[in-house]
Amino acid sequence: MSAPKIIALAGSLRKDSFNQKLINEAARFALQTGAEVEVITLAELNLPLFSEDIEAQGTPTDAQLLKDKLRNADGILLASPEYNGSITAALKNAIDWASRTEQGAVPAFRNKVVALFATSPGGLGGLRGLNHVRDILSGIGSLVLADQLAIPSAFTVFDEDGKISDPTTAEKISVLTQQLVSVASKLS
Ligand SMILES: Cc1cc2nc3c(=O)[nH]c(=O)nc-3n(C[C@H](O)[C@H](O)[C@H](O)COP(=O)(O)O)c2cc1C
Repeated sequence: MSAPKIIALAGSLRKDSFNQKLINEAARFALQTGAEVEVITLAELNLPLFSEDIEAQGTPTDAQLLKDKLRNADGILLASPEYNGSITAALKNAIDWASRTEQGAVPAFRNKVVALFATSPGGLGGLRGLNHVRDILSGIGSLVLADQLAIPSAFTVFDEDGKISDPTTAEKISVLTQQLVSVASKLS
């Protein structure tokens, strides 16, 4: 059994994104378990708003890159910011691009184990949006872990280096990450 391949991704385009910091921490914990981990920063990808007209002219390079990386992974650590009780347009757009299947190819999200995280300045920590992303990913064949983590009061959670400052929260991130790696390792 080889080391599981894990993609860590946050659904924010914001430079100081709390969710990016959160997923960077989860990625760090995953690395400590011996998993192969790649962090993808959505803001660094050039993903136009999905249109079948654009797709008909050829899948954009970064959309193909994202799809190939996800297809090649066993597991996904996903932090989903909450906008208006749901997921961000940026994350939905990335999912839409990556979900497109070429003839004969395996759908990128199929049989990927996914651990869901969120953080927000509010009191629910982005919990409501996680129901939506769970629904979307389950619908396209991902195995979304029942356990998930929504962290409230995001302003108080990270230190100036972007690390989680509260040991209890760090432990919760670590536990969910280990669960993801453990299930993903059975698929690798
Ligand atoms: C359009 C919009 C809608 C938002 N809706 C919610 C919401 O429903 N629940 C919530 O907890 N925070 C909401 N927020 C606040 C975000 O949680 C906050 O901006 C957070 O920092 C976004 O995550 P990020 O830091 O990873 O980019 C909203 C922000 C924006 C811009």
